[in-house]
Formats: sequence, structure tokens, C-alpha cells
Amino acid sequence: MSVSIINPKNGQAMTADGSGLRDSSGNFYPLVNGAYRFVDQNNYTENFGFQWKNFRKTQLDKFSDSTQSKDRFFAVTGWQDTELNGESLLEVGSGAGRFTQIVLDHTEAELHSVDYSDAVEANYENNGPHERLHLYQANIYELPFKEGTFDKAICFGVLQHTPDVKKSISCLIEKIASGGELIVDFYAYKGWWTKFNAKYIFRRYTRKMSQEDLLTKIKNNIGWMITITRFFSNIGLNKVVNRFIPICNIADTFPKGLSKDEIREWAILDTFDMYSPEYDQPQKLHTVEKWFLELGMQEVQAKYINFGKSSIAVVKGIKP
Ligand SMILES: C[S@@+](CC[C@H](N)C(=O)[O-])C[C@H]1O[C@@H](n2cnc3c(N)ncnc32)[C@H](O)[C@@H]1O
Repeated sequence: MSVSIINPKNGQAMTADGSGLRDSSGNFYPLVNGAYRFVDQNNYTENFGFQWKNFRKTQLDKFSDSTQSKDRFFAVTGWQDTELNGESLLEVGSGAGRFTQIVLDHTEAELHSVDYSDAVEANYENNGPHERLHLYQANIYELPFKEGTFDKAICFGVLQHTPDVKKSISCLIEKIASGGELIVDFYAYKGWWTKFNAKYIFRRYTRKMSQEDLLTKIKNNIGWMITITRFFSNIGLNKVVNRFIPICNIADTFPKGLSKDEIREWAILDTFDMYSPEYDQPQKLHTVEKWFLELGMQEVQAKYINFGKSSIAVVKGIKP
């Protein structure tokens, strides 16, 4: 399906002239460093722009000689690579583009990839230019596409970082065509213990810190935190003790086979990713399933997909 780009402020169709997109009233959104810019740089996702520019290559399969993003993409979507031939795919919250790479390298989809932060620049450096890649810095609540324009949409690891999760899902559904599929994955709220974690104590302060200061503090402390969490993992106390140490969960969430330096880099990235976002709202799997149904989706499936010792909450559905 061909994708119609609109001005999200007035709904007018937009045409590209090489330097940006223009509507019939003369409103103009520039193409800067590979992405159409629909929003101010100053918004609540600045931390992600900083994060993905600092760790542009860390999680991309093509730079780490790994297949973990590919494995996750096909496990979560359940799609066959050829199923996307010629289809239009919307990706919202693409970050540095780990899944953008998978779509471009392993499918023939026409990909329209959006992020609210200037991580779009990291994505472009990683994956562009590419004839099937179209990049936008835009907000999930004001996507620059006509209603019902996409065959499929994905939103991975993003919803918990948006202020109104149900509205985010509704805005995604609006952009897919009748018969189109939406797939989301997100941090799950599994019970009171989900928030019984150093992250939810310290985040109140760390999300207000300057990104540079937070990153420096993490870098200065990551060494002893890796050592001590390893010790508790080795004696079987990962789940009990390590949740009170302000570092990401290395034992359960990292891919196998990382070198010592890669473990350090992943740990700094994932810890920054825990402590810097403005919003961090894990959701119950069945709440998101219920919202899909309330928003009119059909053939809704909600499940956890396991990766090593961790699992990801996934909900998918078809627009009638
Ligand atoms: C944790 S990152 C996930 C990036 C990527 N999907 C991945 O899994 O590596 C979340 C991304 O969602 C983006 N995001 C948050 N709120 C958004 C919004 N309102 N509209 C579009 N993107 C948003 C952030 O800028 C960030 O890059």
C-alpha cells in the first residue's frame, strides 16, 4: 500500500521537494540529516536522543555479529520474511534502529520509521540512506500519516515510555488499514514486586539529572556493580538481592557470548536506559489486551515470549 504523508496539524497532504515536506498552505517540515522533522528538539525524549547517539552501534546485530535483534523481531512478530514483500510497515520508537536494520536486511517492506527524539540521526547513520527507509522525527500522538495508510505497524520497547499508553495504542491503530496488523511489546507489570526495585526509588531523582552527569555517574560505578551483582547471581540470589543494586539485570537480559568490554558497554547503556526516561510505566499484559479489544481490534493475542531467562510482553491484533 502506498503511504500518504500529511501535516499532522491540519491534515493536508504533503509533498517532498528534496529539502523537506510542504503542504498546500506552505507549511514546511525540513529534511535534516536523513529525517523529516515534525517536532521540537526539546521534548521529553531528549534522554533517548543522547542515549542512542552515545550507544549508536551497541545493540545492532550488524555491528555485534549477533542475531539477537533478528531473533527477537521474528519471534515477537511471528512473521515470515517474505510476508512483508511490498508491504508498508510503520515502526514507532525506533531508537538507534536495531529493528529498522532487521526490516531492511531481512524483508522487502517499505519502512516508515518514527522516533520522537533525535535518535533518528543515529538510525540514519546506522541504516541510511536506503531506498526503502523513510525516517521521521515525530510524536506518536501526532503521526504525519493519513488514517488507515499502513499494512502493518510495530512498536517495540516504547509504550511504557509514553505518558498515556492507551492513547499511544489508539494512535497506532488509527494509522493502519483495515485488515492491517499492529504488534507491540513492552515492559510488563507482573505484580507489586515489579516496582520493588532500586530503579523506582532512584528514578525520581535520576530522571531530572543532566544526561552527562547521569552517564558519568553510571560509568564511574559500573565496575563494582557488575562485580557485586555477579557474585549474588553466582550464589543464586540474583532475583532477591540484585534488584536493590542500581544496575540493569545482566544475568537475565543480556545475550550470550558478549566479551567483557561489551558487557560493560551494554550494562552502561541499559542502566542509563532505566534511570533517564521521563516516563516508565510497565503495563499488565491483560490490560493492554483489554485496550486492544476496547479499541476495536480483532484476533487479539497477548502472551509472554521468552528470551533466555527473561520474557517480553507482546500483544497483537488485526484492525477490522
Ligand atoms: C527504549 S527505546 C526503544 C528503541 C527501539 N525500539 C529498541 O527496542 O531498541 C524507546 C524509544 O521510544 C521513543 N519514544 C518515546 N516516546 C515517544 C513518542 N511519544 N513518540 C515517538 N517515539 C517515542 C524514544 O525516543 C526512544 O527512542
